[in-house]
Amino acid sequence: MPALVLLGAQWGDEGKGKATDLLGGSVDYVVRYQGGNNAGHTVVVGDQKYALHLLPSGILSPGCTPVIGNGVVVDPAVLLSELSGLNERGVDTSKLLISGNAHLITPYNVTLDKVGERFLGKRKIGTTGRGIGPTYADKINRVGIRVQDLYDESILTQKVEAALELKNQLLAKLYNRRAIDSAQIVDGLLAYADQIKPFVADTTLILNNAIDEGKVVLFEGGQGTLLDVDHGTYPFVTSSNPTAGGACTGAGVGPTKINRVIGILKAYTTRVGAGPFPTELFDEDGEKLRVIGGERGVTTGRDRRCGWFDAVIARYATRVNGLTDFFLTKLDVLTGWEQIPVCVAYEIDGKRVEELPYSQSDFHHAKPIYEMLPGWTEDISKAKTFSDLPKNAQAYVKALEEMSGAPISAIGVGPGRDETIEINSFLS
Ligand code: GDP
Ligand code: IMO
Ligand code: MG
Repeated sequence: MPALVLLGAQWGDEGKGKATDLLGGSVDYVVRYQGGNNAGHTVVVGDQKYALHLLPSGILSPGCTPVIGNGVVVDPAVLLSELSGLNERGVDTSKLLISGNAHLITPYNVTLDKVGERFLGKRKIGTTGRGIGPTYADKINRVGIRVQDLYDESILTQKVEAALELKNQLLAKLYNRRAIDSAQIVDGLLAYADQIKPFVADTTLILNNAIDEGKVVLFEGGQGTLLDVDHGTYPFVTSSNPTAGGACTGAGVGPTKINRVIGILKAYTTRVGAGPFPTELFDEDGEKLRVIGGERGVTTGRDRRCGWFDAVIARYATRVNGLTDFFLTKLDVLTGWEQIPVCVAYEIDGKRVEELPYSQSDFHHAKPIYEMLPGWTEDISKAKTFSDLPKNAQAYVKALEEMSGAPISAIGVGPGRDETIEINSFLS
């Protein structure tokens, strides 16, 4: 498996961190290809728990080289504090590589994210407030600041001045805020330059060479398929492409080089922030999922919205990502329900719909059509093989596999590395 993509099949927080870490021991490179420190990836190793935001989860595997690709947006302050936090805990981070083409999240982008959300009022997206959207907007608008600009003061100054010209008008005249001093921004950015320099590299060249030499490269998505700016529930999305194609543009690797795309799929559904969510629960079942599943945001600490499994979304994720297989996570959280509803299709304006509607209004009106599957009460957290699972848990997994359109290669029964059931040689 020379190059594989691992991505979220729902609205994020599916357990990508755990899955990446699990594979980290058998891969040579782990690459983040989009997003930034809006992500919150939890990795539990023994009694140690790590929350990673910007750094690839492979950083915890000693043999693995972590890479921040060109498609990522990098907040230099967060980068350095995350690195030093790991160093203090004895993690060697010296192998990290950062693309010189990655864009920098500047303090004015963070400010604009926050004031922009306030301005939207009840139409707000519920962003993480980390400056992600405004930084990608600058990139597309061709007024972004890249990592490599830190090493040419004159270019950096010109770019920051150009970027702030319009923004200061906006801040002062629309948002009623003080204008931002470009010299202060430049000085602030330059202060990080030396510390970041040892990591900056031509990551596209390195990764393509590695794949050609038969090394194993894992592309780790942030967020999830339904948060993708093109394929998600727009406008309630993030501003990048977590879907599989994003790995190509966000790392500079052609699609012909990628031979496996794994969708991380939670055994139920969660979402943080605003936007439609057909199977969302507002009753005690939703509260039970939130409490048992520990469904609280790793980045913002917000409670996650919880609901039943949605097979329409899983099928959609299979389609838009070309998924080869799934890693089903958090099956253990469903222990104890007599019956478990699973959404198999939607009812929209009185009609049964099997596929995710492309129209935003239709999706907002979609009502889940549920099938009831029998639950189980036995503790499954110690299960090591598929046959260790109670019959009803096996049937639940098989039903999800059938509905979702790709085989399930591994099942999570707890947050720890070893709390995983491997099927179909997931790790080979
Ligand atoms: P990510 O953003 O996709 O990496 O996921 P998060 O880390 O935000 O959220 C997933 C949460 O579920 C974390 O607290 C993980 O430790 C935990 N987790 C991952 N897999 C499992 C599993 O199979 N069972 C249980 N109970 N927890 C899991
Ligand atoms: P991981 O990688 C869940 C959501 C935010 C908001 C929307 C836009 O841990 O799965 P942004 O700050 O990106 O502009 O916010 O996207 N969001 C996530 N939700 N998990 C994440 O990352 C997320 N990253 C962003 O809550 O609704
Ligand atoms: Mg998360």
